Amino acid sequence: MTNKKKGNCPQYTALREADGRTYIVPMIDEEIKIKGIGRFNPNSTLDGTSNGDRVTIGQKALTRTEPGLPELRKGMKRRAQIINPKDAGFLLAWMGIGCGQQVLEAGHGSGGLALHLANVLGASGTLISVENRPEHAVVGQENMERAKGCLPEFPQWTLIEGDITDSVTIDVIEGICEDLDAIILDLPEPWPVIPLLTPLLRDGGRIACYCPVSSQLERVWQVCEEIGLSIDWAGEMMDRVWTKASRGGVRPGNTPMGHTAFLLIAEKR
Ligand SMILES: C[S@@+](CC[C@H](N)C(=O)[O-])C[C@H]1O[C@@H](n2cnc3c(N)ncnc32)[C@H](O)[C@@H]1O
Repeated sequence: MTNKKKGNCPQYTALREADGRTYIVPMIDEEIKIKGIGRFNPNSTLDGTSNGDRVTIGQKALTRTEPGLPELRKGMKRRAQIINPKDAGFLLAWMGIGCGQQVLEAGHGSGGLALHLANVLGASGTLISVENRPEHAVVGQENMERAKGCLPEFPQWTLIEGDITDSVTIDVIEGICEDLDAIILDLPEPWPVIPLLTPLLRDGGRIACYCPVSSQLERVWQVCEEIGLSIDWAGEMMDRVWTKASRGGVRPGNTPMGHTAFLLIAEKR
């Protein structure tokens, strides 16, 4: 695979509104409809513009921007609830996920977490995503195709459309790689999946579960201990956004801290 140099993304561009709303636009020479902007021909409309330039399309004032991870995430198509940067960033850092590693995620959903994984794995990395709902898989695939056309490097990515508890799915995963560095489960019922996938994890590899409710956390904790995994970290990441005060200075904003999920990371020793 040839890797694109930074600042050279001929396949897509990003257009950003003043409020941060972002649209990922394929650079093609035909009239297309971009939801939120309307119909236009990207090649002719954006001809002669570069990143940082302001463009007006219809009634919208937009800024042309290099499409990296933040733009791909803001402009992504959505169906299932996504893992946001607060939790994705922590999982990637704590699990030590990086260049050249082999990672499995289930379910793929709209590909929110997969975008973060693809961004760090590099061309030498392997990412396997599993999704059992075709209507989610198609959205996730579209977001990942865009990422492939935008990120400087992109891993060997396989999307398996199937159930993660199915032995056929597990055989396909094994056929791609047997020594996974990391597994991340974002499923309503991750507890039966942990014992099925742990044999595919290398020694020292980590498995994580994203659990919106505490009963899920309790069950995955129990299963991990029963099969001899060592709990590396369990808890909840909290973020508190600050804002500019009307009379000057900065302070925590009025928006309450929202809950996303409890996270559990276990290590195979
Ligand atoms: C919350 S979404 C995943 C979101 C994704 N991690 C992201 O960041 O965008 C959960 C997904 O798991 C899928 N799913 C549920 N059970 C599954 C199973 N047994 N095998 C494969 N996928 C499953 C659902 O269809 C859904 O798309």
